[in-house]
Amino acid sequence: MEQKINELLNTQINHEFYSAYLYFAMSTYFSEINMDGFAKYMKKQAKEELSHAQKIYDHLILRNEKITYKRIEAPDTDWVNPQDVLDNALKHEEFITSQIFEIAKAAKEANDFATKNFINWFIEEQLEEEDKFRKLKEKIKAFDECSCTIEAINRELDKDGE
Ligand code: FEO
Repeated sequence: MEQKINELLNTQINHEFYSAYLYFAMSTYFSEINMDGFAKYMKKQAKEELSHAQKIYDHLILRNEKITYKRIEAPDTDWVNPQDVLDNALKHEEFITSQIFEIAKAAKEANDFATKNFINWFIEEQLEEEDKFRKLKEKIKAFDECSCTIEAINRELDKDGE
């Protein structure tokens, strides 16, 4: 594996851990305002991010590649309302998608077919992740007009389980 691709994949492990950290923080935000359904939903997202980090870690180990550990940044948590939280979650996923595309581009340029094949799973996953947050954001758009909307969604998410 080219050094550049090793570095990109190690950086992506860090991004995935940061994503988990961010979504745990968002879960905390929702818990603190007693929106338990949303809190549960964000915790579930956080756990998914941990599994993404592990997937990349396993791939590097499989290819006998070096793992490097980097500092995980603290997320900004100054969200003003639930809409703001979901705006930030979507923006973050769009950033992650751009990083995944960078890996795909580098793998293509290096003729690294193993990485190219591996990263395809993440390209599909990013489509789903962006779609999930976009839909949830749309759903709570009416929040400013009627808090009953957000309460109904909260109950729905609460039923989904962890
Ligand atoms: Fe692992 Fe939400 O991207």
